Amino acid sequence: MNTMYTQFRTRIGFLASHSGSNMQSIIDACKSGRLQADPVVVISNNGNSGALDRAYSEGIPAFYISSKNYPDAEVEDKAIRDVLINHQVNLIVLAGFMKKIGPVTLDEFRGRILNIHPALLPKHGGKGMYGKFVHEQVLASGDKQTGVTVHLVTGDYDRGPILAQKIVPVLEGDTVESLANRVLEVEHQIYTETIADIISGAIQLPQS
Ligand code: GRF
Repeated sequence: MNTMYTQFRTRIGFLASHSGSNMQSIIDACKSGRLQADPVVVISNNGNSGALDRAYSEGIPAFYISSKNYPDAEVEDKAIRDVLINHQVNLIVLAGFMKKIGPVTLDEFRGRILNIHPALLPKHGGKGMYGKFVHEQVLASGDKQTGVTVHLVTGDYDRGPILAQKIVPVLEGDTVESLANRVLEVEHQIYTETIADIISGAIQLPQS
């Protein structure tokens, strides 16, 4: 049984580098009660990110942790882990986080870290495949459909077990922008739905 999510209320820690629209959709779901979870901390490696602005507006504790203020990678990794532990996070949500999770944080939270990818993994994933590069590759491939994947984070980019996927059709005349916008709308739905399924036990995370 997935005791972690049946006995304790879920405390979400976000890691986000950019606008944070996925993060916001999950925060909104928590606030409306659609998601029985609390967004408790936000970490960003980008001091100018929309994600940090959103955290400030929402009154959620926010931390800027990057290689700029933590030049030693292990110290940076430990700082991230410690912030998550100190806020009693039991589910980490990567929402457009442009950095590989360090081994210290991964060891502490293995099987409790989610990521969203704007394509149907294992296609169009891996190192360097993020943002517009993903959609450019999808359009160049001639694929008639793309989509969204929510998966568990492991030490390899975009390779962890897949928890949920949704298909998005590629339409005639799609540009990178039009496709990205349509995919992002689906990201906002599927991320909240997947977290709800984890909380209800419909999706079981591995025992730690
Ligand atoms: C999303 O497309 C997500 O799939 C990718 O980065 C983008 C982040 O968007 N990993 P936002 O910051 O949540 O608006």
